[in-house]
Amino acid sequence: MRLVLLGPPGSGKGTQAKFLEKVYGLKHLSTGELLRLAISEKTKLGNAVADIINSGQLVSDDLIIELVSDRIDKLDGKAAFVLDGCPRTKGQAEALEVMLSEKSKNLDLVVQMAVDNDQIVKRISGRINCANCAASYHTEFKKPKIDNVCDFCGGDSFERRADDSEVSVRRRLDVYERETAPLVQFYENKGILQAIDAMAPVGEVSKELGALIANHTS
Ligand code: AP5
Repeated sequence: MRLVLLGPPGSGKGTQAKFLEKVYGLKHLSTGELLRLAISEKTKLGNAVADIINSGQLVSDDLIIELVSDRIDKLDGKAAFVLDGCPRTKGQAEALEVMLSEKSKNLDLVVQMAVDNDQIVKRISGRINCANCAASYHTEFKKPKIDNVCDFCGGDSFERRADDSEVSVRRRLDVYERETAPLVQFYENKGILQAIDAMAPVGEVSKELGALIANHTS
């Protein structure tokens, strides 16, 4: 199963991709996480993209496709994956199709995660990440089991993402509407699009995704 989660910032792509990795063994490929890792490690790529990301704009299509292609090459040949945050433009969607077909692969399913803008602002303004392992939480909707202690690594320091400022979130939403939302039609035309209600609580969204995967593989 090769799957894309398509949705605006804060729609829960990262949260659900981690669920799909844990429960269904789909490798989670997040372009945002790969880019943030490059920034924190101060690699050449990280230095080149830091300002672009923090201001909520898009990194170039060529760079993103190269990054994703490299990651796919590192997976087992038959590995199943979930793409979180890619494609984000028509150029990326077309280049992804070509790149996958060159590796004798294709996408099985694209899941549109619909959430309204008020909910997005609530989710992003409450998002915190463990400063040690980057696990994602929400101050209201997804608290750590023990106050201020990361469920995964026991870290006790949390931070906010540099691109979660109000100005940057507004720009990311504008960019999503202009560049990424048209991909809904793109994948509908290819007959592989399914929409889910991503406004529901995390567990319900996970169930809906699980049902889609079960239908697809049965
Ligand atoms: P990226 O990291 O992909 O950010 P994004 O798309 O803006 O998405 P987010 O990570 O903000 O949200 P999410 O949908 O993953 O939601 P989450 O699960 O965290 O990209 C960052 C930047 O990198 C881009 O702006 C761009 O600059 C660059 N970039 C990345 N990919 C690129 C590409 N392909 N091309 C060009 N540039 C690229 O959830 C959010 C919060 O809500 C969390 O606190 C969570 O706990 C909570 N939550 C989740 N689900 C629910 C729910 N159902 N109910 C209540 N709360 C929930």
